[in-house]
Amino acid sequence: MKKLFISLFAIYASLALAQTATVPAASTIPVLQIDAGKVAGKVSSMLYGLMTEEINFSYEGGLYGELIRNRSFMANPSWPIYWEIVGNPTVVLDKNQPLNSALDVSLKMDASTASEKKPEGIANRGYWGIPVKPDTTYRVSFFAKGDNFRGPLTVAIVSTNGETIFASAKVRRISSDWQKYTVTLKTKNIQPSKDNVLEIFTTTPGTIWFQQVSLFPPTFDKQPNGFRPDIMELLAAMHPKFLRFPGGNYLEGNTISERFNWKKTIGPIQDRPGHKSPWGYWSTDGMGLLEFLKWCQDLHMQPLLAVYAGYSLGGQHITPGPDLAPYVQDALDEIEYVTGDTSTKWGAQRAKDGHPAPFELNYVEVGNEDYNRSSEYDGRFTQFYDAIKAKYPNLQLIATATVTSRTPDLIDEHYYRSQEDMEANAFQYDKRPRTGPKIFVGEWATRVGSPTPNMAAALGDAAWMTGLERNSDLVVMASYAPLFVNVSKLTGRDRSMEWTTDLIGYDALTGYGSPAYYAQKMFSTMHGNEILSTSSENIPTREWQPRSRGRARPPEQLRQIFFDATRDNKNGVVYLKVVNESGTAQPVNVQITGASSIQPKGEAVVLAANSPDDTNSIEEPKKIVPHREEVHSLSANFTREFPPYSITVLKLETK
Ligand code: AHR
Repeated sequence: MKKLFISLFAIYASLALAQTATVPAASTIPVLQIDAGKVAGKVSSMLYGLMTEEINFSYEGGLYGELIRNRSFMANPSWPIYWEIVGNPTVVLDKNQPLNSALDVSLKMDASTASEKKPEGIANRGYWGIPVKPDTTYRVSFFAKGDNFRGPLTVAIVSTNGETIFASAKVRRISSDWQKYTVTLKTKNIQPSKDNVLEIFTTTPGTIWFQQVSLFPPTFDKQPNGFRPDIMELLAAMHPKFLRFPGGNYLEGNTISERFNWKKTIGPIQDRPGHKSPWGYWSTDGMGLLEFLKWCQDLHMQPLLAVYAGYSLGGQHITPGPDLAPYVQDALDEIEYVTGDTSTKWGAQRAKDGHPAPFELNYVEVGNEDYNRSSEYDGRFTQFYDAIKAKYPNLQLIATATVTSRTPDLIDEHYYRSQEDMEANAFQYDKRPRTGPKIFVGEWATRVGSPTPNMAAALGDAAWMTGLERNSDLVVMASYAPLFVNVSKLTGRDRSMEWTTDLIGYDALTGYGSPAYYAQKMFSTMHGNEILSTSSENIPTREWQPRSRGRARPPEQLRQIFFDATRDNKNGVVYLKVVNESGTAQPVNVQITGASSIQPKGEAVVLAANSPDDTNSIEEPKKIVPHREEVHSLSANFTREFPPYSITVLKLETK
């Protein structure tokens, strides 16, 4: 009887639609069935978060506000790379006049021929340009000392061609001992630009040493040593629930000494030596442990703290047992730094660093991607697990590979796939037994498009996310990766991108969200807390030949429509997500049972493109963005046409 009703309705719907569009025969109209009377599980309140690490100039030249590249001259031991000279001074790296033991080198400038007519100095182009905006105050600071030199020094932001001075200031006296100097530079009513440099120069002769030359624009919430506001706003709009940090490969480093050694990333920034990122460039560690935590605080995200677990990417590793004990202790100290009150050693250190209040911490991940790296992970995990649980029994511990000696609270799984692979796996968790640990998909992405994902990637992501949401009783947390890319120099030596297909792109001046960013935002900000039971019929398919490394795989039929439904049990709003990955508009019959009433008026948020190759870019940042539309004539049985290459969230008010 039910089936007869469905097909009669489908015929009616198709006749109605046939007046205006080329519509497939009634029997081929896809049908989505939602049983609002059957809750299949709870949507995890932590489902959507962020994953981050220093990759593609994510912080240096990215989120971290600093505009000077190689501010501490530590990026190269023999030459102050990324620094240029103004005039004709002699410039060297000097190991004999260090600022302190952390920054144990300085830039020595011998400006013996400087004059009013021939100023001599140093200049920095930042991360592919120093951005300037109108009516904006920039803060410059540097340590300096002079020999036969008392000042003044001029500090200026100047266009690269030297034609425009946007702002300048003078430091009148320079001491013969190391001292910190600070000036502000205020621009007038100028056009925004980035083809600029910061210059520090003298017109009187002498020798000057510099260290930690810093230039900060206004930061998010005006915080010192803070973050770039436009990127923070893009992230805030996603309503992320957690932040997995500091990596990723960046946690592990290429060698043990290049790991994220958190104790060297705290305290005054001039006491942080910095270290090399495994992604090929220097990190000053201005973005240190406390900055990650403040980032969480600013965006109301829970920290998901990954602790170094004794394995580095080049293969160096620590055998479980006494050799590993100092690393386990480091993790315990780190947790105390995050959560301890000020009566504890590391809680007191955090207070000294400017943050007396402890942070809430519920998740600690042990290592990164240890599944194919070292056979000793089980033993290493066990040692961390026992020590952490003994002191912090309520912490949820995340393993990055299957372990047998202990039962982790969560397992971190990573997936980087093609669009078709994502779609083919959109049901992978429907089949997963519910007997093991909960799942955290700590890194995942449809890798189509460079530097940022295109619409094809957004469709693959969205198709797969319907599977995450439908199985969110099991998959309790997920975070796309990588999050950021500086798009200034995509290829060649000294490029700004190491990993293609990253969610958010920017240069020195502006940033943008990719279509995949908007898909993330739609999923993260629009879902209920109950998973509704669903089924479907007549879903169109296309043939796909999976790639295989070994034995040839037969072609597969890929679905072209994906969906899931969740409900907010506080107000009855049902969120129906529908992904049409095909190039044709799809009329879809939606049937809802188990709801006593459905308001005829609802809302749709739609992200659509003319082609799967369409994308956003620094030049066209908003080519593909979601739009909202009112929807009428909703009922327990309605038909709606979903545009080609589209992701739709339909909001239905039900009782
Ligand atoms: O997201 C890029 C890298 O992919 C991460 O650093 C690593 O964990 C994974 O292999």
